[in-house]
Amino acid sequence: MATCNQNGINLRSITSIPPIKRSIYYLTRTRTQSFRCNSSLQSTTLETEPKPVFTSVKSFAPATVANLGPGFDFLGCAVDGIGDYVSLRIDPEVQPGELSISAIEGIGNSATKLTKNPLWNCAGIAAISVMKMLGIKSVGLSLSLEKGLPLGSGMGSSAASAAAAAVAVNAIFGGKLSLSDLVLAGLDSEAKVSGYHADNIAPAIMGGFVLIRSYQPLHIMPLKFPAEKELLFVLVNPEFEAPTKKMRAVLPTEIGMKHHLWNCSQAGALVASLLQGDLNGFGVAMSSDRIVEPKRAPLIPGMEAVKAAAMEAGAFGCTISGAGPTIVAITDDEEKGKEIGYQMVEAFINDGGLKACAMVRRLDRIGARVISSIPL
Ligand code: HSE
Repeated sequence: MATCNQNGINLRSITSIPPIKRSIYYLTRTRTQSFRCNSSLQSTTLETEPKPVFTSVKSFAPATVANLGPGFDFLGCAVDGIGDYVSLRIDPEVQPGELSISAIEGIGNSATKLTKNPLWNCAGIAAISVMKMLGIKSVGLSLSLEKGLPLGSGMGSSAASAAAAAVAVNAIFGGKLSLSDLVLAGLDSEAKVSGYHADNIAPAIMGGFVLIRSYQPLHIMPLKFPAEKELLFVLVNPEFEAPTKKMRAVLPTEIGMKHHLWNCSQAGALVASLLQGDLNGFGVAMSSDRIVEPKRAPLIPGMEAVKAAAMEAGAFGCTISGAGPTIVAITDDEEKGKEIGYQMVEAFINDGGLKACAMVRRLDRIGARVISSIPL
């Protein structure tokens, strides 16, 4: 039986890891608002350079599930308990106005595969974008990245790093920027590293479900899944890397009216069901994508069998998480979630020849946050 290397999760003993300590949260807007930038992807630029209010901060940003079937590039949600951490400090040894990446640690090969060049590192790009928006010229920063998410896994690994970095930089200078500014900073990073899409970075920053209504101008709408309803995500991650760029390259550039009509109606049903907390409706819609999933599924060995195993084990719905290879199923019961995960792992081994690990997670309704800080 395969075990997960992050958080030591074993399929046989799936539990939630302890919740992230919530201390300070700097993003002050309410979560039911929708955010619209006034003009084409225009972010805030402050007129006066803010002074730092902390010598260091540590932030966390959660994993995310993008697309959720027919929501390709416009719908995503955050899941609790797994994600990336950024530690950021004022560093007199770093040139004022600049950022240096001092360390990258974490699961798998992330430490060796990720560059410490801030211009090409997801966390670095987002941090620099936030520094530019704030107009930071007189303070140098050092950033250390702790990866809790595997690279190219379909769980929003690059977005989690970018979100944690954006929130940390904003926080160290007193939290002057808005949520949409931070999403824009994260989007700079996503565009350079994996592709221009906000369905990971927006929920990684804002938590919950987020719909991206338009990109130009950026208009993001948080969608509220009813607080009293249970929603569990079964995430099954095979030992296989599916780089987002590669998984985007196989997609059609044009689609016919029949598929357009089908996917739009399913996406509408998906959103309506999630707002109503109707998991059955949500699951049916999530499983129904006829445009993206059929092109990507053949690139993930065992995908069809894994999906069939999830549905047979009682999942409400199942699809590829983001660009894959992680497969996501949904349920409303933790024990059932473990059984669904077990069956999906078995199917990956038997039909795909891939070792895989499963975890059962809840919706993260908070998004990226500061978990500790040292005042100046
Ligand atoms: N919407 C993006 C895609 C998400 O499917 O390519 C990548 O995680």
